[in-house]
Amino acid sequence: MSTINTTTTDASGNQHDVCGLTATSPTNIAVVKYWGKRDVQLNLPINSSVSVTLDQSDLKTITTVTASTAFTTQGDRLWLNGTEEDVASNRRLVVVFREMRRLAREAPQSVRDTALIKNADEVSFWVKSRNTFPTAAGLASSASGYACLTFALSRLLGLATTPEVTAVARQGSGSACRSLFGGFVRWTMGEKEDGSDSVASQVAPAEHWPEMEALIMVASKAKKHTSSTSGMMTSVATSSLLAHRAATVVPERMVQMEAAYMSKDFQAFGELTMRDSNQFHATCLDTFPPIFYMNDVSRQVANAVHTINASYGKIVAAYTYDAGPNAVIYVLKEDALDVLALLLIAFPAGEGQGEGVVGGEGGVGGGYVLSNQVEETMKMVNDGGFSSQVNNELVEQMKKISEKGRLIQIIHTRVGPGPQVIDAEPESFWEV
Ligand code: DP6
Repeated sequence: MSTINTTTTDASGNQHDVCGLTATSPTNIAVVKYWGKRDVQLNLPINSSVSVTLDQSDLKTITTVTASTAFTTQGDRLWLNGTEEDVASNRRLVVVFREMRRLAREAPQSVRDTALIKNADEVSFWVKSRNTFPTAAGLASSASGYACLTFALSRLLGLATTPEVTAVARQGSGSACRSLFGGFVRWTMGEKEDGSDSVASQVAPAEHWPEMEALIMVASKAKKHTSSTSGMMTSVATSSLLAHRAATVVPERMVQMEAAYMSKDFQAFGELTMRDSNQFHATCLDTFPPIFYMNDVSRQVANAVHTINASYGKIVAAYTYDAGPNAVIYVLKEDALDVLALLLIAFPAGEGQGEGVVGGEGGVGGGYVLSNQVEETMKMVNDGGFSSQVNNELVEQMKKISEKGRLIQIIHTRVGPGPQVIDAEPESFWEV
């Protein structure tokens, strides 16, 4: 692994070592949703949840963590997407730094001896983090963000991704604990008051079901108007449907969902995914006052998916919506281009919309959809040249939806691996 090893000079002219590394973390999209906390301070949920980790070539957080005794006069600092956050007034950040220091202190001497930072209490951390996707647009940026911070700190301190480390990420943002692994990931709610058993673990790696792909239909890049935390608090306080969901529906659904994923049963996986998303949004509507995360475009996308599935006579596409209007549609590789082409007919780009379908940073090429696939898909749309499974009637039904210019972007991605350490970023941002 490539790390940062350099020196810096403080105001009194003394030299200090600077040590660091850069890591990337994926986002994850839950298929059994976390909604509701039994302990707001510790981010302890009222139900377990399970998610699919998305490939990092399309959406990720990149975080550089550096540590030095030169920084201690100013304490821990963090820049998110170029703007400095006030760490001291951000309780979640304070908790993550404090808890990672505690884990480092409690680690066996053998671990501490091999760590890049041998005494976390003697240094301050300066962190630079950025997302390759819109922050707080319902694309789980807090999940990849806190996962990346926790993961980068853990590696700097010589720690593996233990259950304790996932519990630290959870305190940053609940869903972040699931972004510490690739593939299919469970967050067990736990029972203990201190939250030590509310941890994430991998159910299956990405390689288990590599045919699993996802189409992200970005309907809005605006920041969500009701944050997950405040939404959950109101839901827990007012929705009896949520209480019923947590106590009765989710325990059984977790078992069914994991079985569907392990046996690669897309019919069961798809139906459970859509039902769980719909029930989560029903609990939002049952909250008083109600919370509306889905909008008209979200509902049109859901209708289009059901129309496509009805025509195929089976589930080939399964939508899910988090705390925002954007849909994530799970598809299998064999159907992905047909479904994408059908959705492009229903939701064509508007005038002047340059972004279109992308597969990574800066457009095609950086990620999964290669330019020829985009062209292929567009050609399919223009020629009506679908596979034999798509009939003309379905194409006509898609044309009737014709929500021109309602989507901002479509990202075609797939299931992917967990966080990793990458070559350190060359900038010396700690010289500020
Ligand atoms: C709808 O993890 O963002 O995406 O713990 O308050 O940070 P906090 O909430 P957060 O909530 C995610 C809610 C969800 C469902 C899910 O990811 O399971």
